[in-house]
This record gives sequence, C-alpha cells and structure tokens, in this order.
Amino acid sequence: MKVLVVGAGQMGGGIAHVAALSGDEVTLLDREQRFVDGAIATMRKNLDRGVEKGRVTPQDRDAALGRITPAAAWREFDVDVAIEAATENEELKRDIFRKLDASTPERTILASNTSSISITQLAAVTKRPERVIGMHYMNPVPVMKLVEIIRGIATAPQTYETIRALAVQHGKTPVEARNYPGFISNRILCPMLNEAVFALQEGVGTVESIDTVMKLGMNHPMGPLELADFIGLDTLLAIMEVLVEGYGDPKYRPCPLLREYVDAGWHGRKTGLGFYDWRGGERRARTDLTASGVPAFSGDGTAAPSGASAQAPAGVANGAR
Ligand SMILES: NC(=O)c1ccc[n+]([C@@H]2O[C@H](COP(=O)([O-])OP(=O)(O)OC[C@H]3O[C@@H](n4cnc5c(N)ncnc54)[C@H](O)[C@@H]3O)[C@@H](O)[C@H]2O)c1
Repeated sequence: MKVLVVGAGQMGGGIAHVAALSGDEVTLLDREQRFVDGAIATMRKNLDRGVEKGRVTPQDRDAALGRITPAAAWREFDVDVAIEAATENEELKRDIFRKLDASTPERTILASNTSSISITQLAAVTKRPERVIGMHYMNPVPVMKLVEIIRGIATAPQTYETIRALAVQHGKTPVEARNYPGFISNRILCPMLNEAVFALQEGVGTVESIDTVMKLGMNHPMGPLELADFIGLDTLLAIMEVLVEGYGDPKYRPCPLLREYVDAGWHGRKTGLGFYDWRGGERRARTDLTASGVPAFSGDGTAAPSGASAQAPAGVANGAR
C-alpha cells in the first residue's frame, strides 16, 4: 500500500517504521524538515538495533529505509491510506483532515492515531466521512502489539476491513472500540496516571514511591509517572481535557500539577524533563525538585518572626485564640 503519515513525532515515526518494514511505500510529513529527519534517524537507530539482535535482516532494514519519502510541505499525495499522528489537539487535527481531504484522491482512507478525539468530529470536516476511521497505535509502535480501531458514526464497513487488514500487516492485533472519548485504552489508563499526579501533588508519596508501589504491588511493568513521561505530559493533559469535556464528569479533571509541568515545557521524555530527568537518554531522579516533584519550600511565612513569642502573651505567637 501507499501510506502517508502526518506528524513525525514519537508515534508518526514509529508508524512509518512498522509500515515501511511490512512493505508499504511511506511518505512521512511534518511541519519542518528537521522533525522528519529526526524521525528517520530514530528509525535507522531502532532498525540497526533490530539487526544487532537478529530480529531484522540488513536487507530488510535497507529496503524499509528505502521505502520512506520525507516531506515537509503539503502537496498532492496519491496514497491509499493517510494516517494522521500529529499533536493531540482537536483544532489542529480538524485542519489536517481538511488538508488531507483536499490533497488526496477520493479513494484514500483517512485514519487518525488520536488518543481520545471523536472520529465522527474529524470525519465531519471532510467530504468522505465513510472513509474516515480511528487507528490507534500504542507507544513504542514497533514494540506494542495493539491497534485500537474506532469507527466514526458514518464509517463504511469496507473502510474498517481495509484498516483492520493493514493493522495485521503491520504485525498488530486489532481491537475495536466505540467512539467515546478516550476509547477503551485511554478511558481507563489516563485517569489512573492523572490520579498518580494527584497523589504526588498531595504528598501521598514521592515520584519514586508512587512508581514503586504500582510496579511491585500491582505488577505494572512501569510506574504511572514514568509511563506518563513516556506518553508525553502534553498528550496526557490533552486527553484528560477531552475526557472531562466529553463526559462532563469532574472525576476526569486534570491535576493542576500536571498542567503546571506542561506549562513549564516539561513534557516528559521527549523534551528531557518530566517527573524524571531523561536528558542523557537514561531515567534519573530530578535533582532540581524535591522528591515530591515540586521545588523546595523556603519556609518563610510558616513560623512567627523570631522574638515575637517573648513579647506576646502566651498562645498568641502560635496563632491560638
Ligand atoms: N505518546 C503516546 O504514547 C501516544 C500513544 C498513542 C497515540 N498517541 C497520539 O499520537 C499523536 C501524536 O503523539 P506523539 O506522542 O507522537 O506526539 P509528538 O509530540 O511526539 O509528535 C507530534 C508531531 O506532530 C507534528 N505536527 C504538529 N502539527 C503538525 C501539522 N500541522 N502538520 C504536520 N505535523 C504536525 C509535530 O511537529 C510533532 O513532530 C497524538 O494524537 C497522540 O494523542 C500518542
């Protein structure tokens, strides 16, 4: 198949990797050439590792890399399937779907890798809602076996069958989910990750202890704060916003500490800082914050000024009434 992947971040790069390795001709498009170059460099590194471990032959690696065409500007794309994997933002994705509708032939299926946004809403900005569908890969794409498939309300059965077969060709197990905010995966996962940030904010535990409890106590392979760093804190926040708006239930409200990290540009592993320090490629505890994930408090304002108790009547210096 001829496949266009829009967005060359963690997910788009991974989708291009599995598609090209399975024989698809892939065009990888991002806003700027440097993002596409970065994704192809990561793909080359991961494929080299696959060769070292004997999982990929050198010939297959070279053929896969040869099937990738980089792109940094919109033009006509003669492809069978377009998979959108850009930043989790509804307005941005609507704009991309309008552009996809105008830049691809009528036969092209337009799929979104969105984590939470309504497929019906994305389909509604196109003239082909019957050929719009959700195709939700997991991170890291070359490793994770699942693809959640989500039909919009107008998605045609043939579109579903084609995308299901493509997921299988990419080595994945497809599972269908209904078009509700967060689908199955993030409806269940993201509130747990958000709750871990609340636990941190409230001082129930430290970054390390929260992750250790969930790893050793619940047998999770990765702690929730580490996983949040892997997903991207901007993406987690965006998903929580879709959940709280979509269900109108305050149980999904994003934790303020999560929002503050995102405001600071601490988006997790991909930007180098999150609940952990990923600069240098390894997971390390942050040294600029307390173990509670916040800066050390000065203590100013928490005690009476020195000497106050000597002048004031007993009890007043302590604020007692
Ligand atoms: N991170 C995860 O664990 C995960 C898992 C499943 C699905 N997703 C979804 O995949 C999508 C991408 O997530 P990610 O983790 O790869 O994010 P990311 O931040 O790593 O990458 C997003 C990419 O989109 C590009 N982009 C933004 N606007 C664009 C535009 N107008 N045209 C083309 N490219 C554009 C950015 O330059 C960036 O390279 C999101 O919808 C996210 O919810 C993420």
